[in-house]
Amino acid sequence: MSERTIEALLQEGRRFPPPEGFRQRANVTDARVYEDAERDPEGFWARAAADLHWFRRWDQVLEWNLPYAKWFVGGKTNLSYNCLDQHLAARRTKRAIVWQGEPGDERVLTYEDLHREVGRFANVLKSLGVRRGDRVALYLPMIPELPIAMLACARIGAPHTVVFGGFSAEALRDRINDAKAKVLVTADGGWRRGNVVPLKRNADEAMQGTPSIEHAVVVRRVGEQAAVNWQPGRDVWWHTAMAQAPERCDPEEMDSEDLLYTLYTSGTTGKPKGVMHTTGGYMVGTYLTTKWVFDLKEDDVYWCTADIGWVTGHSYIVYGPLANGATTVMYEGTPDFPDKDRFWAIVEQYRVTILYTAPTAIRTFMKWGPSYPEKHDLSSLRLLGTVGEPINPEAWVWYHTHIGGGRCPVVDTWWQTETGMILITPLPGVTTLKPGSATRPFPGIGAEIVNDKGQPVGPNEGGYLVLTRPWPAMLRGIYGDPERYQQQYWSRFPGVYFTGDGAKRDEDGYFWLLGRVDDVINVAGHRIGTYEVESALVDHPAVAEAAVIGVTDEVKGQAIAAFVTLKEGHTSVAQMVEALKEHVVKKIGALARPEQILFTAELPKTRSGKIMRRLLRDIAEGRILGDTTTLADPAVVQVLKERYEETAGA
Ligand code: PRX
Repeated sequence: MSERTIEALLQEGRRFPPPEGFRQRANVTDARVYEDAERDPEGFWARAAADLHWFRRWDQVLEWNLPYAKWFVGGKTNLSYNCLDQHLAARRTKRAIVWQGEPGDERVLTYEDLHREVGRFANVLKSLGVRRGDRVALYLPMIPELPIAMLACARIGAPHTVVFGGFSAEALRDRINDAKAKVLVTADGGWRRGNVVPLKRNADEAMQGTPSIEHAVVVRRVGEQAAVNWQPGRDVWWHTAMAQAPERCDPEEMDSEDLLYTLYTSGTTGKPKGVMHTTGGYMVGTYLTTKWVFDLKEDDVYWCTADIGWVTGHSYIVYGPLANGATTVMYEGTPDFPDKDRFWAIVEQYRVTILYTAPTAIRTFMKWGPSYPEKHDLSSLRLLGTVGEPINPEAWVWYHTHIGGGRCPVVDTWWQTETGMILITPLPGVTTLKPGSATRPFPGIGAEIVNDKGQPVGPNEGGYLVLTRPWPAMLRGIYGDPERYQQQYWSRFPGVYFTGDGAKRDEDGYFWLLGRVDDVINVAGHRIGTYEVESALVDHPAVAEAAVIGVTDEVKGQAIAAFVTLKEGHTSVAQMVEALKEHVVKKIGALARPEQILFTAELPKTRSGKIMRRLLRDIAEGRILGDTTTLADPAVVQVLKERYEETAGA
């Protein structure tokens, strides 16, 4: 976090207790839930689990063999059943999904509709040979077919792997191969700012190297606008297959610990890893947090603006809201198409009551100015949420004022792909808010801030955020790499889960998240490993060596900066900058495009050959140079710093 942001954190002294009207009607109004849960966390989670449907009740709430947890041991359930069949009696005609496409087309699926579509698609998957335990990859735009496919997978016990539609063909291929997926569900294309994203073309390219894929199911989304190649025998149109499929598909009775999905996320080393989430605990964790954090009620219209390609969409567009029987809004496109008021037009049109978005989006809206939200009636909103990165108090206050009309609590929710569910958050009917703080661990969650040696730090001392006890939606491991699970999360500090985040706790016990402390960059709320971008850069024939860092960016939180050494015979001309940026896009996707590339004859290294990223960060952020005494050649840094200043100033 930049000095400026920390400064602002300290300056914003206002406190926001729950507005009286909100508090009176809130799902949780009594702070004693924290003590109750603390006294008996397992009993607390068991009470939440009892709200849901189980074919067979669990024998034991938690079996904990550090670092391996089993939740609701012996329980049999099905998450698709809980998201659909459970609601048919009381909510048959209630809207489950309200969807808007970027061009303005709409689809509304009631619980009955969704149940039918999911049953059909589950049968389609079966007809293509998908059996319980087989993996299915989903590479789709934000269209209703995506949650339908996820729920169909959950129904038949085939774990899904959703790959964000902005990832490249190569990134898709890597994920399919790691998961050994049998079927890929994709679309001819998707809409983005009026242009077609050629998903099928990328999928075709990916499938040139995916031996496990037997079939691709293709949704027709953009039609004439995207010419698609077709491989007969492998490729199947979604609409053709659905037309022939029966509606009824009885759900599999899944074990609590059966794999529900894997989702790939960036770590500090190596390729993105497949975070594993299982059925029972994930269901209970997302169900209860959705209900309590968003204060979800029967008549709410809830909109989480994330893409389902990320964990936020999994937990808080699909599973959490649907397990609660909510109406969940989905939007396909960007906030600035056709104009910068698109989000506010959607809020007005559907009378959205709860809005959950990211700090980077809020800062973008701030930059565009309040005239866009002012054009619309946002009076339906009653609660706002944010997730993905630390929110600076200015953005928090702007959101509260200009979107929430000063009347809506703002829940700043901290969590991760690995945690599966929100872990640090206000409870909007209970918690007095401080702009910029995610406030407190959710009831039943153990969080601590420790120093280098793993000892708890005092108030306002910075340290590492760790989680001290298991929680229901926690990851169960890394797909195909059990050692990495142990090593990445449970080795840094013995006995506790290391989040990779820095944090401090103030004198009132409020948590303030301070960003990643490892080699993970958070660009506009998307996690990218420096190692991945470096690998993409050195894959280019002209590059000898690369070091990638995150630099502070006013809107995106962080941006990617790369220091690159070229091989003999290559020159550092402007075209090379573009070529390298494009190469990264091709290898990973547009989200990983470096903002800045600086060529250098050498990178600063320690005598043992490790690149000193800390120094690069100092250079890029214009700080005084850190300690360079361990450098093999201290002059390298001085030269780099001068070069950087020249380039950045240019
Ligand atoms: O650094 C934290 C940041 O996002 C990381 C997790 O990223 P990902 O797995 O992609 O999941 C994002 C959505 C859950 C965390 O390690 N982060 C997430 N939420 C917050 C946050 N940082 C500060 N405040 C938050 N509310």
